[in-house]
Amino acid sequence: MKKIFISVVSLILVMNANVDAQKTVPLYQNPKATVEARVSDLLSRMTLDEKIGQMNQFVGIEHIKTAEANLTAEQLKNNTANAFYPGFSTTDLENLTKEGLVGSFLHVLTIQEANYLQSLAMQSRLKIPVIFGIDAIHGNANAPDNTVYPTNIGLASSFDTEMAYKIARQTAKEMRSMNMHWTFNPNVEVARDPRWGRVGETFGEDPYLVTQMGIQTVKGYQGDLNSENDVLACIKHFVAGSEPINGTNGSPADLSERTLREVFFPSFKAGVDAGAMSAMMSHNELNGIPCHSNEWLMTDVLRKEWGFKGFIVSDWMDIEHLYDLHATAENLKEAFYQSIMAGMDMHMHGIHWNELVSELVKEGRIPESRIDESVRKILTIKFRLGLFEHPYADEKTTMKIRLNPEHRQTALEAARNSIVLLKNDGILPLTEKYKNVLVTGINANDMNILGDWSAVQKDENVITVLEGLKMVSPNTHFEFVDQGWDPRNMSPEKVNEAAEKAKSADLNIVVAGEYMMRFRWTERTGGEDTDRSDIDLVGLQNELIEKVAASGKPTILILITGRPLGVEKAVGKVNALIQAWEPGMYGGEAIAEILYGKINPSAKLPITIPRSVGQIQMIYNHKPSQYFHPYVVTSSEPLYPFGFGLSFTTYKYDNLQLSGSEISKDENLEVSVDVTNTGKMDGTEIVQLYLRDKFSSVTRPIKELKDFARVTLKTGETKTVHFTVSPDKLTFLDKNLKPVVENGEFIVMVGSSSREEDLLKQSFYVKE
Ligand code: BGC
Repeated sequence: MKKIFISVVSLILVMNANVDAQKTVPLYQNPKATVEARVSDLLSRMTLDEKIGQMNQFVGIEHIKTAEANLTAEQLKNNTANAFYPGFSTTDLENLTKEGLVGSFLHVLTIQEANYLQSLAMQSRLKIPVIFGIDAIHGNANAPDNTVYPTNIGLASSFDTEMAYKIARQTAKEMRSMNMHWTFNPNVEVARDPRWGRVGETFGEDPYLVTQMGIQTVKGYQGDLNSENDVLACIKHFVAGSEPINGTNGSPADLSERTLREVFFPSFKAGVDAGAMSAMMSHNELNGIPCHSNEWLMTDVLRKEWGFKGFIVSDWMDIEHLYDLHATAENLKEAFYQSIMAGMDMHMHGIHWNELVSELVKEGRIPESRIDESVRKILTIKFRLGLFEHPYADEKTTMKIRLNPEHRQTALEAARNSIVLLKNDGILPLTEKYKNVLVTGINANDMNILGDWSAVQKDENVITVLEGLKMVSPNTHFEFVDQGWDPRNMSPEKVNEAAEKAKSADLNIVVAGEYMMRFRWTERTGGEDTDRSDIDLVGLQNELIEKVAASGKPTILILITGRPLGVEKAVGKVNALIQAWEPGMYGGEAIAEILYGKINPSAKLPITIPRSVGQIQMIYNHKPSQYFHPYVVTSSEPLYPFGFGLSFTTYKYDNLQLSGSEISKDENLEVSVDVTNTGKMDGTEIVQLYLRDKFSSVTRPIKELKDFARVTLKTGETKTVHFTVSPDKLTFLDKNLKPVVENGEFIVMVGSSSREEDLLKQSFYVKE
């Protein structure tokens, strides 16, 4: 009896304890509840200040310390590239995080710092985790000890959307293993000006290619945004900063709504459709309205028209710039007001946000419901990413994921597929008959092959061109003449030394280009904020090429650069030209494999290479009248056209077939073509399909890429490649910017590049 009594008492105690537990564990902390219910519950418990804090981002404390240590007070004041918060110490930032008043951090580069900052957030009243954002543009390269893949322009040259997906997936895993949750990529801007230093971050000039690469990148990062291997993608920068009026980053864009909708919007819309849950606005003003206060862009187009459900983040100091640059706001408070009311959700980054936004709400200028809208979106992402359940990453396992053999292999393959062979008089592939090879140029033995948005990586994780050559051709003697890393400060003596050595070499390899590494922020010549008023080789590089080639020995030029360079003069002097872009950690190995024919190059240009700056704007998909009156004296042809790239084998295109010569407006047209490898090496060809609407009610480009396929062919092999031209590919915007398919003749063009002589053509007609 006594036993039964004790059991009943303990049962009652246990039941009471459960009820207490349910009372004390709030709904938002219950992982079994729906995300919507958790968000609503959490929101109802938050103070106004906590909500506004969720909308604010800060740079990490190590970043602040480095900036403070390396810059003078004057530099700190004027340098927009290095954050610091005058009068605000790292301890203040730690306290703010503990108070739950910081929603996100950026520029946190180690797992230790990420876990530490998160531990501060976990001490806050509601224990809302912070979300760490990072510029993982090509792998999580901005942080040390991660796999570094080619930058986007190289990836786009492979036309390999599966590879884009794979790289994004692997990057997501490496990021999560370091407690990083949000990448500021993909950049889905359509790059139309090579003076702009950021071309290497983009997938090039073609809206269709950019769109396809962007979609797969978003999908690869995000998965279904609910596992510990998923990260949040960010489509950026919205919009048109890639066609700045003078080529400089953040200068005004002045573009018609037609051009915006035809050229710049489709890749962003596709990113939204692919599920991207964050978007970043761009530095520039657009037609007189800064993007950061542009209600049309943020609210009307992105949210209402396209149904974007994620959150919008500002770019670096750009809300501040409404006041201190664009001068559309009279002070910072007004700038915050304008941006939030136009649709901004998160502020990158700084100390004044919390206080001033709070004042704006208390004064009744910004309704609290508007704040709730933003916070709801941010919290939704934090729940979906599982941050409440897994706020930390494991320091013991992170290095099992980062730089693992599978990821390294992908980086190598991506580099092999991204390197474009532009000229070859027959010298390539090299044989071992060239016993003594001179290797020189600023990029011959430098980590700069990693490209922009990469931290310095350990030597053992980077294969430079010189190292790659030695690996791939161990019996060759490579004589290296170092030209230093800095194109602006090359030494004439060193140039002459190389010229002298070239005389006794059997072959010369010059690895030229630009310098992109961020740790030398003010000295570099390529990458973000390194815009050019010409597109020539900087410094003594042309002289180096000329003098080395004057030896009469065969000379090969390799370019490491994120943007197209007008190297017309140099091309005339060399036997072969390779555009290697920023090929990443195994770039040197991949370049050497191509030089020695271990790999047959397959990449094609995702952007036109003009001859000179005067030809800009030079794009392949221009309007019919663009060259009605060609330039006098100089050429109106590009140096190399979009879609162009050589192989060590040859391909024949034959038998272009259409499923009919007439289709109705809602019908598909099937297109097929036979492609044969007619040369002596197995290879991969990128087959391109272009369309032209022959007569239309508004002017249309002379051709537009509408599909492509990577086809691997053994020597002698023929494959039939099939494409489907669906009605959306025939659609354009009429006089009223309404989508239409018009009756009449269309031309299908299929071939190996956008160049006329590389295309087979056939017409078909659209009838009512
Ligand atoms: C760039 C963004 C980047 C941000 C954070 C800005 O300067 O424009 O693309 O995501 O910095 O690093």
